[in-house]
Amino acid sequence: MAKNIFDKVQLSSGQTFENRLVMAPMTTQCSFHDGSVTDELIQYYSRRAGGPAAVIVESTFIDNYGRAFEGALGADSDDKIPGLKKLAEGIKSKGSKAIIQLYHAGRMGTPELNMGRQPISASSIAALRDNAVEPRTLEIEEIEEVIQLFADAARRAIEAGFDGVELHGANTYLLQQFYSPHSNRREDDWGGTRENRLRFPRRVVEKVRAAADELNKPDFIIGYRFSPEELEEPGINFEDTMYLLNHLADYSIDYFHFSINNWQRTSIIDTEDEQLLLKKYLDKAGDKLREIPIMGAGGIKSAEDAEEAIGSGFDLMSVGKAHLINPDFVNQLKNNELPNTFLIDGDDEKLTIPAPLWNILGFLKENKK
Ligand SMILES: Cc1cc2nc3c(=O)[nH]c(=O)nc-3n(C[C@H](O)[C@H](O)[C@H](O)COP(=O)(O)O)c2cc1C
Repeated sequence: MAKNIFDKVQLSSGQTFENRLVMAPMTTQCSFHDGSVTDELIQYYSRRAGGPAAVIVESTFIDNYGRAFEGALGADSDDKIPGLKKLAEGIKSKGSKAIIQLYHAGRMGTPELNMGRQPISASSIAALRDNAVEPRTLEIEEIEEVIQLFADAARRAIEAGFDGVELHGANTYLLQQFYSPHSNRREDDWGGTRENRLRFPRRVVEKVRAAADELNKPDFIIGYRFSPEELEEPGINFEDTMYLLNHLADYSIDYFHFSINNWQRTSIIDTEDEQLLLKKYLDKAGDKLREIPIMGAGGIKSAEDAEEAIGSGFDLMSVGKAHLINPDFVNQLKNNELPNTFLIDGDDEKLTIPAPLWNILGFLKENKK
């Protein structure tokens, strides 16, 4: 039967998404200096909740020394729970599931953002970008401690009333750094072979699921976001990604979320290859993976776009920028209204967009696509 964007989607943990569209995680940079929730953040998210099946709250650090941005949101300590609770309530009271994205910046952090601390990573290899800092290699005894930080943050998300977490295994943060042969040059059980590089993300997923079970939340949603390929050499290729997903699938993952800037993305490594990454995935996914919904991302501006992406094989689509421009995006599609495609100067208050986010959105202003 042809899929419709307003179909319900049953997740393996037991919860149901009311439709196939979710609000993509987008960093707003408007938390307090310590990473706790501000009123602005609550207003911004609750204004956008209601239409999408779920709102995925922006990347949220799990370690006080693992931030990647100014104004980043944190779930690194219990004193953040009351604020996170208001945030989850603001989303859920409108009818969307509340999911929070958890990350550790690893080598993408800087001492300036992290109280002077040198960033940590799998190995002491700086990222290939301007001004990247050489990270400190995690001692073997420290690795389980960092894994525990993910489980602790998931426990806080549960206590704050979130329906789930999305583990941020993409965008070159720590989860990806352990899996990547570029950033992980370890020679112990946590590095070297692909099987060893998988160990960190696998343990994180395992411990987060165990944390949910301990709190008697078997229906807690666990999503996993991944970047399908890396340009670094050596780097993650699509075969490596299929290996990762096949193994993570053993831990009741509710959805896999592609981190791509357009759902029609092709390989960034083999630029001659015209096959969509989505099609590559569908060709290679076996029975186990086909049970798990896949969430696409990037470039959805209208009902037609969403229908085409879902019709092409994604089960769910995350919608980012269109939700900034149109706080009621999904309801507009439901009512056959045409969403806007750009921002207009001065609309930040009307659209409930916090200043730090508004200030970086110049590229979405009128006549700039
Ligand atoms: C301002 C902004 C902040 C973002 N922050 C995050 C983030 O915190 N975590 C993440 O996984 N992706 C982040 N993204 C990527 C989005 O989740 C999404 O994949 C991307 O914008 C493409 O979808 P779109 O074309 O619907 O916007 C961000 C994107 C934007 C525009």
